[in-house]
Amino acid sequence: MTIHSWSPGNTYVQMNETFPYKRVVVTGGAGFLGRFIVKRLQSYAGAEVFAPRSADYNLVETTDIRRLLKDTCPDLIIHLAAVVGGIGANQKNPGKFFYENLMMGVQLIEQSRLEGIKKFVAVGTVCAYPKFTPTPFREDDLWNGYPEETNAPYGLAKKMMLVQSQSYREQYGFNSIFLLPANLYGPGDNFDLESSHVIPALIRKCVEARENGAAFVEAWGTGNASREFLYVDDCADGILRAAATYNESEPVNIGTGSEIRISALLEMIARLTRFEGEIRWQHDKPDGQPRRRLDVTRALEKFGFQAQVPLEEGLRRTIDWYESQAVGGAKLAVSQSHEA
Ligand SMILES: NC(=O)c1ccc[n+]([C@@H]2O[C@H](COP(=O)([O-])OP(=O)(O)OC[C@H]3O[C@@H](n4cnc5c(N)ncnc54)[C@H](OP(=O)(O)O)[C@@H]3O)[C@@H](O)[C@H]2O)c1
Repeated sequence: MTIHSWSPGNTYVQMNETFPYKRVVVTGGAGFLGRFIVKRLQSYAGAEVFAPRSADYNLVETTDIRRLLKDTCPDLIIHLAAVVGGIGANQKNPGKFFYENLMMGVQLIEQSRLEGIKKFVAVGTVCAYPKFTPTPFREDDLWNGYPEETNAPYGLAKKMMLVQSQSYREQYGFNSIFLLPANLYGPGDNFDLESSHVIPALIRKCVEARENGAAFVEAWGTGNASREFLYVDDCADGILRAAATYNESEPVNIGTGSEIRISALLEMIARLTRFEGEIRWQHDKPDGQPRRRLDVTRALEKFGFQAQVPLEEGLRRTIDWYESQAVGGAKLAVSQSHEA
C-alpha cells in the first residue's frame, strides 16, 4: 500500500511503505466509506481484509462480536459500522441511533481488548461537537457543550468511544485511536431521500427536476448554515494513515478545513447538474448545526494527512456517478427530502 508521509517543513513525500498490520477487519466495510477503505487496503499486497456484513455478524450483539473475532483473528480493527443518516433520519430514530451505535462501539472495543487485538481505530463524527463550537472546531473543544439536538444521540453515542479509548489506553495499554471525519460525500453515497445526507439529496433533486422539467426545487432550512465536506476517498486516505502510524490518545479531526454555506452549495450543484429553475427554501425545516468547519492541523502534524480533492471536482465525480446509475435504471421517485 502506498502511504504518503509528511516531514517537517511542509514537504509532502510519497513513498511505498509496508502497512504495519496484516489481518484487518473493517466493520461496515461494505458501506459508503467502507468500500473505499477496503479498496485501498486490498491494493496493499500483504493485507488480508475482512468486511463483515450485518446479516452475518450483528455487531450490536456481544456473541456475534466474539464470533467475528474468533473467525477472523485480526491485528487491526477499523470500526466504521454504524446506523447513520441526515437530519430527518436522526429525528426519526434517536433511540435506535443512540443504542445501536453505543453498543457496537463499546462492546467491540471491550472484546478487542480481551482478545488482545493490536490496534483499534474508532471512527467518530463531527456531530459529536457542541452545537456552538467556535470555528474552526478544535479537538480540545469537544467537551465544551451539548451537540446540536437533532444529531446529539448519534454524536454522543459515538463520542463514548473516545472516552473508552482514552481510559483503556491509560488502564490497559490498549492501542485505540479516535478520529472525527467531516461530512462525507462521493460516488456510492446514499441517494435515498428518506435517509440521505445533504449533498446526495440536493444532487438528486436537481437532476430529477432537470429531467422532469420542473420549475423549482425545494431545500430544507434557510440555506444559511455552513458545512465542511470531505471527499470520501480522502477520508479513507486519512483513516488509513492514522491506522498505520498514529498511536496516541488525542482525538483527531479528518477534514478539509473549509466550509461552504448550504445556499452556495446548492447553487454549485444546480450549475453542475444543469438545473436552471428556482430554488425554494423551506424555512419550517431545520438547518441543523449553524456552522461546521474543522481545524485540521493535528491530522497534518501527527500523520501527514491533507485532503486532496476540491469540492467542485468531488461534486463532479459524484454527479457523474449518480447520473450513470440513473441511466442504468436506478432512477428513483421523488419523495420528501431529509437533509443534514
Ligand atoms: N457519511 C458521512 O458523512 C460520515 C461522516 C462522518 C463520520 N461517518 C462515519 O463513518 C462510518 C461509515 O459511514 P457510512 O456513511 O459509510 O455509513 P453506511 O454507508 O451506512 O455504512 C455503515 C455500515 O454499517 C454496517 N452496520 C450497521 N449496523 C450494523 C450492525 N448492527 N452490525 C454490523 N454492521 C452494521 C452496515 O453493514 P451492512 O451493509 O452489512 O448492513 C453498513 O454497511 C460511520 O461510523 C459514520 O458514523 C460518516
